[in-house]
Amino acid sequence: MTVRSARAIAHSNIALVKYWGKREGADPALNLPAVGSLSLTLDQLRSETEIHANAHDRFELDGVALDGKPAAKVFEHLDLMWRTSGTLSARPPCFVRSVNHLPTAAGLASSASGFAALTVAAAGAFGLASSLGDAGDPTRTRLAALARQGSGSAARSLWGGYVRLDAGSDPSGSDCIARPLHGRDHWGLKLLVVHTARGAKSVSSTGGMESSRLTSPYYPAWVASSLADLDAAERALAGRELAALGEVMEHSCFKMHACMFATRPPLIYWNGTTLEVVRAVFQARERGLVGYVTSDAGPHVKVLCEAAVADALAAELAALPGVHEVQAVAPGPDAHLELL
Ligand code: PMV
Repeated sequence: MTVRSARAIAHSNIALVKYWGKREGADPALNLPAVGSLSLTLDQLRSETEIHANAHDRFELDGVALDGKPAAKVFEHLDLMWRTSGTLSARPPCFVRSVNHLPTAAGLASSASGFAALTVAAAGAFGLASSLGDAGDPTRTRLAALARQGSGSAARSLWGGYVRLDAGSDPSGSDCIARPLHGRDHWGLKLLVVHTARGAKSVSSTGGMESSRLTSPYYPAWVASSLADLDAAERALAGRELAALGEVMEHSCFKMHACMFATRPPLIYWNGTTLEVVRAVFQARERGLVGYVTSDAGPHVKVLCEAAVADALAAELAALPGVHEVQAVAPGPDAHLELL
């Protein structure tokens, strides 16, 4: 089989209920999470990836050829996709060209959109799919499971809107399934992405979550309390109850960071501005400018709010010392595949 030229677009997502930790005793190659998660897919922030046949493997990110670990991860993932296509011959060499319309590896979920776009493009290039249908297309569910093997959060980027990824318990991973809860038009929310630093984060999420599992005394409590958060968030989302969703979203975020702080050595992804932004959001809420915070394995703060207050809240946060930029992002669309 030859490689077809294919192009994919996948949007980044932010977990409202967080994933942190891999399932104990599971096959590491399956990359199974210890907890489920619930996310919002983001408009604007996206990865676009093309795959073409080439004389040798080549990976280009934002116009720069990369080798070493980043390229190795990309081509390992292509090997997985090629094996999944059922072809017994060796995978032909490929040119993978990716553009990230978001800061890479800064706690803004570039691995989610990156691995989702790579998975979808490879599915096209290797004949696993020629297009993707609407949110109900079972091919999306299959590709989400493959994307998860590259990055846990990537499974959620196969769909737009609001997505739940269940942890499951079967050793094969068959019940670790991502599914769309609501499309992007379900609720006119905005996510303010408050940039508090420039550049890449210091500890990768894979390494960080593994050391939390091994050393944080809070890790078992984090895992045990996650399912209740997921169910509460799903209910609040269905009823469009921002206060209920915001409360559980903040609880999930601060529990995850408490678990990170209690890791040995401690994982502190925040900087001083992160906390100033959190405090400012709490104070604005008291005054009726309602937003709720979350943050991932990086120093940036994301604030969930109704579209009607987004501009006013964004202006207040942009004025804080140490804030570089505030982006107001709407719920984003499904991942897309095109054969070239
Ligand atoms: O999928 P990974 O390995 O990038 O891990 C994502 C971890 C968090 O962003 C902190 C939380 C999440 O659920 O996205």
